[in-house]
Amino acid sequence: MVGPNYGGPMDQSQLNAVRQPIQHAHGLPNEHYTDPDVYAEERSAVLMFGWSGLAVAADVPEPGDARPIDFAGMPLLLIRDKAGTVRVFHNICRHRGMILVDAPRKIEGAIRCPYHSWCYGTDGRLVSTPHVGGPGQNTADGIDKATLGLSEVRSHVWMDVVWINLSGDAPAFDDANADLISRWAEFDVPLHHGGPDSRFVLEVDCNWKLAVENYCESYHLPWVHPDLNSYSRLEDHYHIEAPDQYSGQGTLVYRQLRGDNGATFPDFAGLGAKWDTAAEYITAYPNVLMGVHRDHAFAIVLLPQGPGRTQENIHLYYAQPDTDDALRAANTAQWKKVFEEDIFVVEGMQRGRHAPAFDGGRFSPAMDGPTHLFHSWVAGRIDAHRASAQAAE
Ligand code: FES
Ligand SMILES: [Fe+2]
Repeated sequence: MVGPNYGGPMDQSQLNAVRQPIQHAHGLPNEHYTDPDVYAEERSAVLMFGWSGLAVAADVPEPGDARPIDFAGMPLLLIRDKAGTVRVFHNICRHRGMILVDAPRKIEGAIRCPYHSWCYGTDGRLVSTPHVGGPGQNTADGIDKATLGLSEVRSHVWMDVVWINLSGDAPAFDDANADLISRWAEFDVPLHHGGPDSRFVLEVDCNWKLAVENYCESYHLPWVHPDLNSYSRLEDHYHIEAPDQYSGQGTLVYRQLRGDNGATFPDFAGLGAKWDTAAEYITAYPNVLMGVHRDHAFAIVLLPQGPGRTQENIHLYYAQPDTDDALRAANTAQWKKVFEEDIFVVEGMQRGRHAPAFDGGRFSPAMDGPTHLFHSWVAGRIDAHRASAQAAE
């Protein structure tokens, strides 16, 4: 059984089917996971219009630290400027478009284009244009440095995640995400990245949305994460559902990791009693998977790398800058195991999206609510994007 207009982008009836109440809703059709044209449409409609995660501020800890990042095919440059501010630029020279920085490094003086040596400050200002007016002439008519700084992308840091708004016209981050910021206000405290042993990258052969869809629900725990499920059972979980903003799940029985000597990580200061035993796992739409617990937090920034490929960048945070090395390593290992356990299902669903018979699927009304909300939001974004494109014609 296939939906109407099978084989191309969703038509209006398919968009509407995704946005039905969960009892009747279908999932997004196959093309949203496999088709390069639909991937490109979603890039604008879903990844560029609002605030998406790019990286974490801990990726550029010191002034001058610079890191090129490919965001869904767009070359960006994450940098901490000399004044300490995290900034994001398009990673291209204003002269003829050369890539400026092609590997992570420390910018000592200026960002120098390797092609004709135009130089930019870490704050993006164009500072020198050697021989632009001919040999020995470093100025030229029509080359106004004041208007030729690096193209900056709007960015904002929250929970150490660097969020970007590529369209440039989204509401301010704090307004767009007011509900989630308030929900997790108790965690709006200094988060200390655990360092090199608290970051890892997983490369997965699936569309980035499947990583979100899997993260949002706890339904799979008994079969995919039997160890986790041994103490945090299905019935200990609750849904977190904020339509068009975020969704995920929480557990009422978070159990702290203990070292051989019974030691635990220090708690974040000032948490309410709920967090003695609760933990929450939320996807901030579109692409940041976050988790909070009394004694640590994590962020997973999903970097789409094509319709069927995603890079998951995982970072763990603590309440204090110094924590026990062995305990921290054990915590990283524990989470790595959990996230690796999810790979076969997201990759399996990706392979499944090549079956012409798959119509987008159906949802468990009881168990899949947070995942359905994400599908519904994506369909709504595509609808809005097409409407505004049409209005502009
Ligand atoms: S392209 Fe950068 S200086 Fe020419
Ligand atoms: Fe999982």
